[in-house]
Amino acid sequence: MTSIMNPPAGYQDLDKIIVSESMIKRRVRKLGAEITGAFGEEEITVVAIINGSLFFVADLLREIRRPIRLDCIRVSSYRNETRSIGKPEIVHSLTIDIANRHVLLIDDILDTGKTLSVVVNLIKKLNPASVRTCVLLDKKGRREVDFEADFVGFPIEDQFVVGYGLDFAERYRNLPCIGLLKAHLQNPPEWR
Ligand code: IMP
Ligand code: MG
Repeated sequence: MTSIMNPPAGYQDLDKIIVSESMIKRRVRKLGAEITGAFGEEEITVVAIINGSLFFVADLLREIRRPIRLDCIRVSSYRNETRSIGKPEIVHSLTIDIANRHVLLIDDILDTGKTLSVVVNLIKKLNPASVRTCVLLDKKGRREVDFEADFVGFPIEDQFVVGYGLDFAERYRNLPCIGLLKAHLQNPPEWR
């Protein structure tokens, strides 16, 4: 059976879609298989950085065929809407014990690298058995600290993207694809 779907509300604000819904689905399935293989028989303790990784984590975890414990961590947004302007801080930390556990830290996007390196440092202090990282998107050209993720969905150019969890001023997270906002929407006065 085929179905014709209306474009989701919010699509009209996108200039361009850079990763479609079906590309995301295919890649997430493969990443799940890669992670399943990489962790062997071990139970995985997933630490998700919210809010951005919510949608990615929900889909990815259902593609990992291993026992999983899940916790979330919230990191302050240290940026204005599109650019990094300071140092990230942890505003809500872990609630489960990760000592001697195999940790998989997941975020939506790796940009300057500051967020993931702050969180990895925090996790390492708690004596896990291992720490690996996974991001859906990687803006390689933007790194300000030396950091690479172990599992990457898509490398992308240095451009500000929204959708599938990624936001602009908390909007557009629910778009099923990833795209570029139209230029005139990147600085609307009513959102200041
Ligand atoms: P980093 O600390 O500079 O690596 O940035 C990581 C965080 O910045 C992510 O968790 C995102 O919340 C946010 N971020 C970076 N680039 C983008 C983008 O293009 N769109 C939306 N959020 C972004
Ligand atoms: Mg984020």
